[in-house]
Amino acid sequence: MAEPAFTPRVFSGIQPTGNLHLGNYLGALKRFAETQNAGISSIYCMVDLHAITVWQDPSELRHATRELAAGFIASGLDPRQSILFNQSQVPEHTQMAWVFNCVARMGWMKRMTQFKDKAGKNAEQASLGLFGYPALMAADILVYHATHVPVGEDQKQHLELTQEIARKFNHDYGLEFFPETQPVIEGAATRVMSLRDGSRKMSKSDPSDMSRINLTDDADTIARKIRKAKTDPEPLPADADGLEDRPEARNLVNIYAALSDQSVDQVMRDAGGKPFSEFKPMLADLAVEKLAPISSEMSRLMQDVAEIDRILADGADRARAIAHPILQRTYEIIGMVGAKP
Ligand code: TYM
Repeated sequence: MAEPAFTPRVFSGIQPTGNLHLGNYLGALKRFAETQNAGISSIYCMVDLHAITVWQDPSELRHATRELAAGFIASGLDPRQSILFNQSQVPEHTQMAWVFNCVARMGWMKRMTQFKDKAGKNAEQASLGLFGYPALMAADILVYHATHVPVGEDQKQHLELTQEIARKFNHDYGLEFFPETQPVIEGAATRVMSLRDGSRKMSKSDPSDMSRINLTDDADTIARKIRKAKTDPEPLPADADGLEDRPEARNLVNIYAALSDQSVDQVMRDAGGKPFSEFKPMLADLAVEKLAPISSEMSRLMQDVAEIDRILADGADRARAIAHPILQRTYEIIGMVGAKP
């Protein structure tokens, strides 16, 4: 846990870049709903400012932001209990990000593997925003003094950087102002892999739609994608140890475990030794049972975008009420005249 002085508060964000997929659901959304239901104060953000670090078509961004909000609600997030909003509507995020741009060091940013992956060979042509992305992410979290951040494994390095920024700020100004936020990376599905290649992460940006299950896929599509998922020719091993060198098999078992709220060992007790011709239909049935209601609830919610916009606006007001005094206190610590915490 964080410093006792900090009340537990959860923050997490998802980019509204389309194609919300099973990785986002199992690595993030499903766990957010569990946190909320455990009664922990939670803030969830559609990070539209992060999305524009690479080109976004304006009408697609608008659609994706609303659809993401619908995805949160359909996954069990109650907008009265948790705070749901889009990042651009709480200006304290970018204001805090500027402060952190001045705390973070170039060398720290250059180590970020996500920047290297996204910028590829053409780093000179990447936006400055893509390079500074992790400082905005640290601001998202620390402007609420969030103590815990549930994410998938791919965000671990960014969260370590968030801790580094908090530590340097606290050290430079000589006080324990920002918490050392803890990443919460738990469960069987913190890294859901592509259905076409067990060595690659399931991702929105994979050109093959067969590589992922989208939360908007209908039951037939979900079943077809699982049926066609790449596997090796052997049946499932007898126990979890046998999954070690079998990435595709391990991925499907992890997905089954996460969807059914069981441990991998429990799943292997029932499914160990089964051929994929038996296991895949079991997984398809389970995936349809769990995901189809989310998909249909998302479509229902998307029929009333005015209501979604209202929910986001209300969330932004509530988020701002927390972020504003923390930003002002930060300004005061730094020595900005006129800061009013
Ligand atoms: P994003 O939008 O790429 O992903 C949203 C969440 O989904 C998780 N995730 C996965 N989990 C398991 N398996 C996968 N294949 C998979 N793919 C994605 C991600 O780990 C994440 O939890 N930088 C963040 C957004 C962000 C953020 C924040 C997160 C901005 N500010 C502050 C936490 C706190 C991102 O791009 O996530």
